[in-house]
Amino acid sequence: MEKENAPLTLPIRQKQPKQQLTKGMEHMRSYVTISEHPATAPPTTSTNPGEDAYGVPATYEPLRQIPAAPTSNNPEKRTDPFQFGTRYLEEGDDIFSHNAWDHVEVDSQYNDFILQQTGFQRENQVSDFDKQRFNSKPEKWWDKFYSNNAANFFKDRKWLVQEFPVLGAITKASYGPVTVLEVGAGAGNTAFPILAMNENPELRLRACDYSKKAIDIIRSQEAYTSQPDPILQAEVWDAASDDLPPGLEPGSVDIVLMIFIFSALSPDQWTKAVRIIFTLLKPGGEVLFRDYGRGDLAQVRFKKGRYLEENFYVRGDGTRVYFFEEEELRRIWEGRPPSEESEQAGTNDDSKDSTIPAGTGFEVVNLAVDRRMLVNRQRKLKMYRCWMQGRFKKP
Ligand SMILES: C[S@@+](CC[C@H](N)C(=O)[O-])C[C@H]1O[C@@H](n2cnc3c(N)ncnc32)[C@H](O)[C@@H]1O
Repeated sequence: MEKENAPLTLPIRQKQPKQQLTKGMEHMRSYVTISEHPATAPPTTSTNPGEDAYGVPATYEPLRQIPAAPTSNNPEKRTDPFQFGTRYLEEGDDIFSHNAWDHVEVDSQYNDFILQQTGFQRENQVSDFDKQRFNSKPEKWWDKFYSNNAANFFKDRKWLVQEFPVLGAITKASYGPVTVLEVGAGAGNTAFPILAMNENPELRLRACDYSKKAIDIIRSQEAYTSQPDPILQAEVWDAASDDLPPGLEPGSVDIVLMIFIFSALSPDQWTKAVRIIFTLLKPGGEVLFRDYGRGDLAQVRFKKGRYLEENFYVRGDGTRVYFFEEEELRRIWEGRPPSEESEQAGTNDDSKDSTIPAGTGFEVVNLAVDRRMLVNRQRKLKMYRCWMQGRFKKP
């Protein structure tokens, strides 16, 4: 999908001569190219850090494995499955010894580039006519996306349980009754892996999306049609509407999964979506959340005619995407109003839909920024990625 925005996606799908950038990224050359070539650089492995569906790298799970060969300077680069990666890049490390490094803050030069780039995007925004076109029926653009990309899904998301261990627990045979709602389930990239690992006959997994095409894709899969006792049920549902998903009552859901869907809502839909999810959850129920973070490469490389609002863009295929900051997400889910400063600056503006009524805010169990510097060892490129991940609990 991101390839619609810029001719180049992250991966090295096509063989490229070393250090060659496509036209779409040429303007970023000095910010993403690593010039030195350490003598110790190992050969490139088959891991392809950018291969993706929806621009979401599918292969970031391996980043948490313990490196096969510890680097001399930093031998204990082990990772803990229950926290964000700990493969820190330290002084003296060989940058090319791994495909990715965790928690790498962007350098100041790159930060300047982000500011310059976002300024340029703001000055070259989408016309009012097109804003109306993309915002009025967003599900149609997603229908189109799924019609055009039907074959590109179903990457194995092994990382799901690693990031959200509760998914491992509820799919155990003896867990008992539990209802999971996936919001914005797309083609089932999350729902199918959960179904595949499930041993719990009392799991009810609802996968909802407002794109009818996406739901058709889920419903047409053999794993769906061959369920003897339907565990997974896919339904068309708009999370920013006033209706509840078909068959679900208020207070009936234990877990809501939101994987790269909140970013597809426009800021003036956030409050409504948070409210309806609050209504659906049981007390003590949780939202498991992962989405784009501010300054992610996907944001920085947007060019002319993609900016809709601050941090909110339309891709070349007409689908929309927002890039979040930690404090902003905390505020949205806790149900706090935007600060005066952010309103004055015209940022973080979900105020159009007022704020969440008292008593309907979530407790933020955890929320963290997952920052990675991905290294394309063959082409000597560094790419800063940034995702937000959290768990929000209904008190
Ligand atoms: C980036 S895709 C992510 C799909 C899936 N969660 C995944 O990670 O593979 C975003 C999905 O959210 C859906 N979506 C966007 N806004 C929605 C809304 N208001 N209600 C329901 N689904 C929505 C889109 O149709 C699309 O399938």
